[in-house]
Amino acid sequence: RYLDLRRPEMTGALILRHRVVQRIRSFLDARGFIEIETPILTNSTPEGARDYLVPSRIHPGEFYALPQSPQTFKQILMVAGMEKYFQIARCFRDEDLRADRQPEFSQLDMEMSFIDEEDVFALVEELIADIFRFALGIEIPVPFPRLSYDKAVSRYGSDKPDLRIPMRICNLDSVFGKSGFEPFRLILAEGGAVRGLRVPGGAAFSRKETSDLEDRARELGAKGLASFQVKGGELKGPLVKTLDEDSRKELFEVSGLLDGDALFVAAGEWSATCSMLGTLRLEIASRLDLVDRSGWAFLWVRDFPLLEWDGEESRWSAMHHPFTAPHPEDMGLLESDPGRVRSRAYDLVLNGSEIGGGSIRIHDPEVQEKVFGVLSFTPEQARERFGFLLEALSYGTPPHGGLALGFDRLVALLCGCRSIRDVMAFPKTAKAQCLMSGAPSEVDRKQLKELDIRIAGGESRE
Ligand code: AMO
Repeated sequence: RYLDLRRPEMTGALILRHRVVQRIRSFLDARGFIEIETPILTNSTPEGARDYLVPSRIHPGEFYALPQSPQTFKQILMVAGMEKYFQIARCFRDEDLRADRQPEFSQLDMEMSFIDEEDVFALVEELIADIFRFALGIEIPVPFPRLSYDKAVSRYGSDKPDLRIPMRICNLDSVFGKSGFEPFRLILAEGGAVRGLRVPGGAAFSRKETSDLEDRARELGAKGLASFQVKGGELKGPLVKTLDEDSRKELFEVSGLLDGDALFVAAGEWSATCSMLGTLRLEIASRLDLVDRSGWAFLWVRDFPLLEWDGEESRWSAMHHPFTAPHPEDMGLLESDPGRVRSRAYDLVLNGSEIGGGSIRIHDPEVQEKVFGVLSFTPEQARERFGFLLEALSYGTPPHGGLALGFDRLVALLCGCRSIRDVMAFPKTAKAQCLMSGAPSEVDRKQLKELDIRIAGGESRE
């Protein structure tokens, strides 16, 4: 690694990272933000991953958890009256690793009191515009576009759509509701959806390319993938004969099909169908080079569902985290129909990558207790895990909210790097190892003994 770091690209990335951090600090300082460090040895902060645990020697059998984020601490700082907090915070998450995920990573973490979504959006937009002007000499237009979660999924099959790709999913319910094609009509009658994806120039796909796409759709869980082509202005494809003249016209209107295009159509449960077409959208765009690589496509995605059903555990879990405020209009549904409650969470997306996430928080302890209840915590469990937060909230808490930017992801995008590993001095491998230092490693028996820990099924090194 130390030899690799001598390469100018690597050195350059680390220097840019350093300069961006300095810029962020002075930007936020000038706006009254206070940088405050929060503990690394702490209790679990739920952000949806597994915790890294650290055994306590002084309290045998007890463990600290490394923070998945400073979430609870920054909220408590709001109770303490700090009003504007930030931190370049190291976070730890034991989760499956990918190019944009590391077990330890940095967030630009922020929180503010007496604000709403608009204040967070405006601050972050100004900050991002400043960083891009400073680092790349580029003027980023603000405000960024916004989409609700539902619209993002229905148009792009993803909650982090890459808007540099000029393809959208279209709704073909009405076209196929009237068609003579029985399988689609049945799916619609059962509450399902028929969705299409127009591929510019796709009429030139070979038979093999089309059948490969059908295989891929099946691999992604679809029952099948129908296809249409427009050649010489005429609609072609096995299902054309199931559509009458009006439906064909509607198909052109809804999908925006042009001569030389293809349209791929799938039917099934709404979100699964959209997300399958969303994956094909990305794969086709990358294969046909349809991504405008010169562009910077920022997007706010908001109004996420508050909860998602965890089939394995048979209970609701928080889509963002348990401290996110429910949408005021949906409060009444919290206990009667939790799946339909929207939240006040938002994500910042850049070129199809989630570079930040945040929310307006619950500041009323009663609402927080109610949400813990919906998440299947008994009152005792809620008190045991988050009693400190519930108690703090009861002392009069200002309305507050914030956001954390994935700092490594942001710098990787600024540097044009494919992986966040390329903007970290000492990253870990996909198996969460540091090959240079050899971490993680076995420890001496003496150390384990001091910690009152025995390794099941194996002797540790002397
Ligand atoms: P969230 O979990 O969305 O929110 O994280 C914020 C941002 O951190 C980045 N990120 C990661 N980067 C690298 N490796 C990882 N393993 C990793 N996991 C997440 C992403 C993500 O958008 N406490 C809340 C924020 C808040 O509500 O204010 C939180 O941590 O870019």
